[in-house]
Amino acid sequence: MNNKSKNFYITTPIYYVNDVPHIGHAYTTVICDTIANFNRWLGKDVNFLTGTDEHGQKVEKSALKAGIDPQRFTDEVSKSFFNLAKKLEINNTDFIRTTEKRHKKSVIELWKKLEENGNIYLGKYSGWYSVRDEAFYSEDEINEDKDGNKIAPNGSELEWVEEPSYFFKLSSWQDKLLKFYKDNQEFISPKSRYNEVVSFVNKGLEDLSISRTTFKWGIPVPDNNDHIIYVWLDALTNYISALNYTNSKDNNWKTFWPANIHVVGKDILRFHAVYWPAFLMAAGIEIPLKVYAHGWWTVDGKKMSKSTGNVVSPDYIIDKYGLDQFKYFLLREVRFGQDGDFSENALVKRVNSDLANDYGNLAQRVLSFIYKNNEALIPNKGTLDKVDKDLLYAMDNIKDKIINHMNNYKITDALEELWLIIRKSNTYIDEQAPWALKKTDLERMNTVLYVLCSVIKNVSLIAKNFIPIGANKILDQLSINKNKREYANFYDELISGTKLSKPEGVFPRLEIKE
Ligand code: MSP
Repeated sequence: MNNKSKNFYITTPIYYVNDVPHIGHAYTTVICDTIANFNRWLGKDVNFLTGTDEHGQKVEKSALKAGIDPQRFTDEVSKSFFNLAKKLEINNTDFIRTTEKRHKKSVIELWKKLEENGNIYLGKYSGWYSVRDEAFYSEDEINEDKDGNKIAPNGSELEWVEEPSYFFKLSSWQDKLLKFYKDNQEFISPKSRYNEVVSFVNKGLEDLSISRTTFKWGIPVPDNNDHIIYVWLDALTNYISALNYTNSKDNNWKTFWPANIHVVGKDILRFHAVYWPAFLMAAGIEIPLKVYAHGWWTVDGKKMSKSTGNVVSPDYIIDKYGLDQFKYFLLREVRFGQDGDFSENALVKRVNSDLANDYGNLAQRVLSFIYKNNEALIPNKGTLDKVDKDLLYAMDNIKDKIINHMNNYKITDALEELWLIIRKSNTYIDEQAPWALKKTDLERMNTVLYVLCSVIKNVSLIAKNFIPIGANKILDQLSINKNKREYANFYDELISGTKLSKPEGVFPRLEIKE
């Protein structure tokens, strides 16, 4: 690995603090955490950033409604996202809040750079604005609801805004953006989203209003405090302010920029795939390697919303079914990039079939058999037959495929691949039948169990990036040292005669509890 490919920088979007955390937020975070874990496991130096988006009209309105000043309000609600990260036991390296000094400094700096480079001018904005999306919409995107109110394509309410505003010369970046997309076809994933963005930019870009004057909660424009910097320009900067971009000597900046991947929901792709690269180009800053847009979760077939009352709290699901179980469902049920539907029934079904029946059962059968029949010791390897070698070879092969999938962010494919070897191993144990060998050929029984332990070890080394709690428990039961669980340990041979700890079921079958 050369130095650049040894470092890996991944980000979640920063969450608006006006909302309570739900499974949609948890999803983005879990996806990023898994990718971060996997890259760390491969031996890379990983920077994984998450945080909260605390400025703007939407947050100011929510604070007003709650009757507290915005700073106190954001201090309070930012905690709920901080706590969600804790509850999910993610391995983020930083948590940024846009109300922090380090962030404000970077936003001002970026603004000045854009201004210096002739990309900002003062004008007047008149048009439609959605406070919910913190976004401007052009006439051709607007619809009307049944009462004749103007609404955005996603149904959010629009208000007419007419005020002095600074503009970013987005229109002059259209051709450069199109050329950039053409030269960097991997910049936006999945491909369907890439096509969507290219066709949006092809239609023509208008200059972008990047300041507001009708509220106060945000970062003032340098030298003109009547204007507050547009919350998206403010928010997007978090990805570089966390690396201390204002200090070009800072190691984090030199090491981790450009980011390898920004993971975002499909609803905020335009900001990341059009505005953000345009701002960066205009400021002379390198563009990230990829923006990956994931799909949206509905709940029991319906859009999740406070008004429908079907917002699912991650805390509730984790307490009821377990953290690994929740993570596994999110990662496996829906192909990364596509929409999905959340239901407790589907979660229970998925967990029972994959975690309890397949993986958990494999570990439990093998380990408890050894515990009872081989004095809880890793058996002798003996001489491998063809079927043994085939299984070990398949494991090795699958590991390579998984690495390849994960390097291409194909999380679901990686899990599918891992389950192929788990199921193969369950077939192998049925066919080799160590319980029968116990009566006829102890040496062969030991070899079969040894092979199975080796595969369970390697499956768990990979699985711990996705479902760390259960996979690590299985590795504990196999007496694998905590600091011998990296990719580099994949080829470590198990040592016959090592004492195993008492096996315990790791993924119990779930029942729907009302
Ligand atoms: N603050 C902006 C992001 C700024 S990034 C510079 C924002 N925040 S958000 O809290 O509204 O959304 C954060 C993420 O949660 C987005 O990626 C969004 O797509 C995701 N989700 C919100 N609801 C979701 C679902 N129902 N399903 C899946 N993800 C969803 O946008």
